[in-house]
Amino acid sequence: MKPVKIGILGLGTVGGGTVNVLQRNAAVIRGRAGRDIIITRACAKDLTRQRICDTQGIQLTTDPFEVVNDPDIDIILELMGGQSPAKELVLQAIANGKHVVTANKALIALHGNEIFKKASECGVTVAFEAAVAGGVPIIKAIREGLSGNQIEWLAGIINGTGNFILTEMRDKGRDFSDVLAEAQALGYAEADPTFDVEGIDAGHKLTILASIAFGIPLQFDKVYTEGITGITRDDVEYAEELGYRIKHLGIARKTAVGIELRVHPTLIPERRLIANVDGVKNAVLVYGDAVGPTLYYGAGAGAEPTASAVVADIVDVVRALTSDPENRVPHLAFQPNAIVEQPILSAEQFTTAYYLRLTAEDKPGVLAEVTKILAEHNISIEAIIQKEPQLGFTTLPVIMLTQKTLEKEMNAAIAEIEALSSITGKVSRIRLETLG
Ligand code: NDP
Ligand code: HSE
Repeated sequence: MKPVKIGILGLGTVGGGTVNVLQRNAAVIRGRAGRDIIITRACAKDLTRQRICDTQGIQLTTDPFEVVNDPDIDIILELMGGQSPAKELVLQAIANGKHVVTANKALIALHGNEIFKKASECGVTVAFEAAVAGGVPIIKAIREGLSGNQIEWLAGIINGTGNFILTEMRDKGRDFSDVLAEAQALGYAEADPTFDVEGIDAGHKLTILASIAFGIPLQFDKVYTEGITGITRDDVEYAEELGYRIKHLGIARKTAVGIELRVHPTLIPERRLIANVDGVKNAVLVYGDAVGPTLYYGAGAGAEPTASAVVADIVDVVRALTSDPENRVPHLAFQPNAIVEQPILSAEQFTTAYYLRLTAEDKPGVLAEVTKILAEHNISIEAIIQKEPQLGFTTLPVIMLTQKTLEKEMNAAIAEIEALSSITGKVSRIRLETLG
């Protein structure tokens, strides 16, 4: 059989890793795909830059449109990142009848609905396993492995950089900015690392997972996102005293009134496997009505782990090259006519438990005032720790765990607690999920 020709847009961390894996594992990949796969062209911004891969035999250019317009190329790998010109390049490749493999979650989360429509019209595949959880085949698992289930909820550590930072801060007491710089040097972070630490990257990934799980259109604008920059060492320590770990989670949950889509730091009981997922590793817990809870774990970022997912997509595309476009695996798991809008809940409609940290004056009656406010909002307290005031201070930290409540009630209660004269500063809140 004729070899399949690949054109690569981007030769950075993921592009370079993909070249290495395709070259090193060529024999085993050919055995699985049934055809030879050769990289004929690639592009990068600066051709003088040193690469992590050997580009001998690959025709290089700085113009990505040259690659997508090359009539000899069958599959385009979009590994540049960003929205533009990535979107224009992918649409052009599709219009040219080429299949596309991408690791670009921002592109899929924001423009996937348009891209998949165009791909279906042109009878080509757009594959994006590497866009969520790096090397973990979570998209395939939900889209194909769990296709007999109604997915009730999923919760995942889906940003490697963020988890790496939280782990290093907790285990080694390192500074936030120091660990972020290391994550950037290791190639884990996004071009704009605020995407990692403010929850935007995880929001992009959650958007994709939710569509595949629930059969809804991609809608990043409806995801509630909160980053890890507000987490203090004190919060990490108090959480541990109470038997919890703080993880940055993406959560998608179907409720009777709509779907919760949220990304935020979360307390999780330390006995849960997912609470012990450390470093750049990702893990996604998916609850299907038939199978129950299932957990998927592995490297969430980095050159070769991500390349593993890119190459798996290439193999799928090569296998599908000869199949009828109508019978290919649908992009978002559900057939296009089965994707339906469902209400996405506002943050005030979320139901969750909370960890609260407040700074209270060291005098009688303060706790009673706080608990009265919580009771008036129907919020039950699960645990309270009151710390000793530090030497020379007249205030002390109070840490509380609550039972599940509506976020709207918690917002109102926090506003009233912050208004008490015996409470100093803001109440720090972190959501808590038992993931049972
Ligand atoms: P890099 O910055 O390492 O690589 C980007 C590559 O694209 C570089 O080779 C760059 O050229 C090239 N490039 C960028 N813009 C242009 C342009 N206009 N014309 C030509 N070439 C261009 O990014 P990553 O490899 O880290 O990420 C790529 C994609 O993969 C992103 O969408 C990212 O979100 C996603 N991803 C990344 C993971 C990771 O672990 N890093 C994991 C999973 C997904 P040059 O090298 O000359 O600058
Ligand atoms: N910046 C991303 C992360 C890359 O750290 O998870 C993988 O998607």
